[in-house]
Amino acid sequence: MKKLSSIVLLVIFSNVLEANISQAAQTYRLCAACHGIHAQTKALGLSHIIQGWNSEKILQALRGYKNGSSYGHSKMAWIMRDKTHNLSDEELQMLANYISKLK
Ligand code: HEC
Repeated sequence: MKKLSSIVLLVIFSNVLEANISQAAQTYRLCAACHGIHAQTKALGLSHIIQGWNSEKILQALRGYKNGSSYGHSKMAWIMRDKTHNLSDEELQMLANYISKLK
C-alpha cells in the first residue's frame, strides 16, 4: 500500500513537473523572438548569450529586471522590465529552470 501511494505520488508529481515545463516552454516563446529558440542569440545584439547560464543566475537577472533597477547593463534594459513585470515569481523560476536546460 505504501509502495502504491508513492507510485501514485510520483505520477502526480511528474505530471505537475511536465505541465510546468510545457507552460515554461509556452512562455519562453515570447522570449525566443529576441533570445533565440535555444537562448543562443544576443537579444537585439545587446544582451549576453544566456544559453549555458544556470537557473540561479537567470533567476537573479529576471528578478532584478522585475524589481526595477537592480539588474541591467544597456539602454534597452527597460525592455526586460516590460517583459518581466507581469510574471509571477513562480513563473520566473519556471522560466529560469527551462532556459538553463536549453542547448
Ligand atoms: C524585444 C527583445 C527581448 C525580448 C522579447 C526578451 N528579451 Fe531578454 N533581453 C533583451 C535585451 C536587450 C537584454 C539586455 C538588457 C540589459 O540588461 O541591458 C535582455 C537580457 C536578458 C537577460 C539577462 C542577460 C544579460 O544580458 O545580462 C535574461 C536572463 C533575459 N533577457 C531573459 C528573457 C526572458 C526570460 C524573456 C521572456 C520572458 C526575454 N528575455 C524576452 C531583449 C529581449
